[in-house]
Amino acid sequence: MQYKRILLKLSGEALMGERQYGIDPKRLAEYAKEIKEVVQKGIEVAIVIGGGNIFRGVAGAANGMDRVQGDHMGMLATCINGLALQSALEDEDVHTRLQTALEIKEVAEPYIKRKAIRHLEKGRVVIFGAGTGNPYFTTDTAAVLRAIEIDADAILKGTRVDGIYDVDPEKNKDAVKFESITFKDVIKKGLKVMDMTAFTLSEENKLPIIVFDMNTNGNLMKLVSGEKIGTIVNT
Ligand code: GTP
Repeated sequence: MQYKRILLKLSGEALMGERQYGIDPKRLAEYAKEIKEVVQKGIEVAIVIGGGNIFRGVAGAANGMDRVQGDHMGMLATCINGLALQSALEDEDVHTRLQTALEIKEVAEPYIKRKAIRHLEKGRVVIFGAGTGNPYFTTDTAAVLRAIEIDADAILKGTRVDGIYDVDPEKNKDAVKFESITFKDVIKKGLKVMDMTAFTLSEENKLPIIVFDMNTNGNLMKLVSGEKIGTIVNT
């Protein structure tokens, strides 16, 4: 196996499947199966999930809502997604723990780094909810932060595109995909992988980012097995 401990970043929007809003149980079940496969291979899996399928703080602010208020709503949305993912994983008999950056301790454990690591060592999937617990930060930043804290080997960013391209592949059919690219080249070429806060945190801590298509069955397994799936951003 290429990786021993991974931080999987899933977008909230991905959970919508074919829907316009909310959670598609079919998509959730597919993700749970994919994750189970890699856990069974002995890979330690931590997950950060977004909340955009329910609420995005930035969108709230665009409509005149106080940004902090909106971000708090977004953080709670990630907890809802975390609970849904936890249930789906438990349906697959995968042991899980949900830890949240905002305390809602009747619902989930508070985030404690050392406890999270123990859970991972015991083969449990740890889902981190509520982002970083602070407004103005994205769940990508939360994913990088947690990945560094738990000493993950890489951050695997599951998206609907299969990697990083020189131009937007959804708008340009001649777009060329990078197999690997350096942090510096991403910036030089003006490519968008994550927001700058998340990206520079990753670069400074030499945490590789792999962007891949999570919606193709078997991709996650192939990736952790060492197959060249998606695009890797490295130093
Ligand atoms: P170890 O005993 O260290 O292997 O871990 P554990 O998670 O099994 O132990 P613990 O006794 O801490 O937790 C038992 C159960 O209670 C688990 O399902 C935890 O997720 C849950 N749990 C622990 N702390 C909290 C909390 O603060 N809030 C909530 N809601 N659940 C918690």
